[in-house]
Amino acid sequence: MTAAAIARVTLLFSLLVLAPSSLMARNPPALLPLPQSAVFGGGEFRLTPAAGVYADGRLAAARDAVQLLLAPATGYPFPGVEKDVPGGIRFLFDPGRPAEGYRLKVTPAGVEIHASAPAGAFYALQTLRQLLPPAIYARQPLAADWTIPTVAIEDAPRFAWRGMHLDVGRHFMPVAFIRKFIDLLALHKMNTFHWHLTEDQGWRIEIQRYPQLTAVGAWRAQTMTGSIMDLRRERQAYDGTPHGGFYTQEEVREIVAYAAARHVTVVPEIEFPGHAQAAIAAYPELGNSGARVKVKEEWGISRHTLKPSPETLAFYRNVLTEVMALFPSRYIHIGGDEVSKDEWAASPYAQQRMAQLDLADENALQSWLIRQMDDFLDANGRSMVGWDEIMQGGLSPNATVMSWRGMGRGLRAAQAGHDVVMAPTAWTYFDYYQGDRAREPQAIGSYLPLRKVYAFDPAPAELPAAVRERILGAQGQLWTEFMRTPEHVEYMAYPRAAALAEVLWSAQQQRDYAGFQQRLPSHLRRLDHYGVNYRPPGNDALGLRARLEYWLWTAATGLYFWWQD
Ligand code: ACM
Repeated sequence: MTAAAIARVTLLFSLLVLAPSSLMARNPPALLPLPQSAVFGGGEFRLTPAAGVYADGRLAAARDAVQLLLAPATGYPFPGVEKDVPGGIRFLFDPGRPAEGYRLKVTPAGVEIHASAPAGAFYALQTLRQLLPPAIYARQPLAADWTIPTVAIEDAPRFAWRGMHLDVGRHFMPVAFIRKFIDLLALHKMNTFHWHLTEDQGWRIEIQRYPQLTAVGAWRAQTMTGSIMDLRRERQAYDGTPHGGFYTQEEVREIVAYAAARHVTVVPEIEFPGHAQAAIAAYPELGNSGARVKVKEEWGISRHTLKPSPETLAFYRNVLTEVMALFPSRYIHIGGDEVSKDEWAASPYAQQRMAQLDLADENALQSWLIRQMDDFLDANGRSMVGWDEIMQGGLSPNATVMSWRGMGRGLRAAQAGHDVVMAPTAWTYFDYYQGDRAREPQAIGSYLPLRKVYAFDPAPAELPAAVRERILGAQGQLWTEFMRTPEHVEYMAYPRAAALAEVLWSAQQQRDYAGFQQRLPSHLRRLDHYGVNYRPPGNDALGLRARLEYWLWTAATGLYFWWQD
């Protein structure tokens, strides 16, 4: 070929390939969370009804993932093909990658996914969906042009624990919504669903040995509608409407399996020895006085705690035995937060028990009780997680700490060699207001706008490496005192959980709020197709009064947390 011919071919190539490529570079699909790297080409690949799926035997589960993630909207069959032939979607085993990492290559000939484990293959498919039109998130077949731009993506997550918590104790949420909640976690490459199943206001999981827990404990006669911040008793109204519900063991099994198919681990929380009023309502002998109490109808911390007796411990070990049979999670959460010590201080039995066990004070009693649970879970091959109050009176040896009263306690636990999940109120409490409360539905208080969630760093670089290594990750909290419906949960969760997903998946140096804001509208089109009632972003500035309230809240909770230990 002559030099002139080469020049002509080069020019033609540039026009055909590079020009669309630069167009694409200006307007790439909105990947969220951001992958480690994405290099777009200029071509495209079109999914058709003929697209087959090849999977290396070690990634066979990825075929099911294709059915879950690509079949509903396209209506295509995606038949399995036995030979590794080009075209369609191919899952290739690549032992060099972390379990949740992947390489995704789209060429005009098809889609190639390299992973060392089904989780990585699954996340590659989640990314592939973001390369398709947003209609791919529809739950029934739609006519659309299922075209994918050519690209090479390398990716792996920053943190191992990428979670969302959901409190179903304050308000019960139906099974269908729990499934959707899990879908949304998986869509955002989150892998942990912390299911807060027991509370003062409701016990939500069937325990076959103790049927009263749900027969009595899952139901309350009415619910306080006023704000807990309102100290004037007469303004604390009640709705007069019974509320309740629980999950049968069959439903729990089904949800755990549903989550596992989406690479989400369900971590159950059974609150102990506080936040247990519903259990005491069901079995009064669990309480310090033995008196019958109601399932709590107000928000705030109950003064009723569990009686520190051998019988109570046996009861909770039996509960945990059923829980462990339902949840394969390595981690089991035993709560441990906001334990009122007043009843123990006033109870001759509790005082006698403390003397017997040579415990100096009520904090030491709490610590001793938590240690019993830690030992029990450890003996059963599980790991105990608890809110950071489990550090009061001494942290038990195998505990993982969920740091909610700021990050300091978590860092102290990490320094002492414990694993830590960051869940600080200021960055991860999605029950806080998203804008001025004059324009928002009632929330618990405080203020956590989207940009602040995005600015969160669970493991800042200035920490010593040994401490950072102990920080497993972080999670967002959804306490549902003021969220009565799934729609309201979605309003509080999204898009803040999408921002948190990027915090947890993407490298810290890649994060950039302006870029996130640019990508967000396209991402919200996806959530539209999935039918998510997210809060439209923006309009989140506080007026003077709300700002003042926020400062007061921050100062008051800061002082309160400091005073507690
Ligand atoms: C908590 O918010 N009580 C963990």
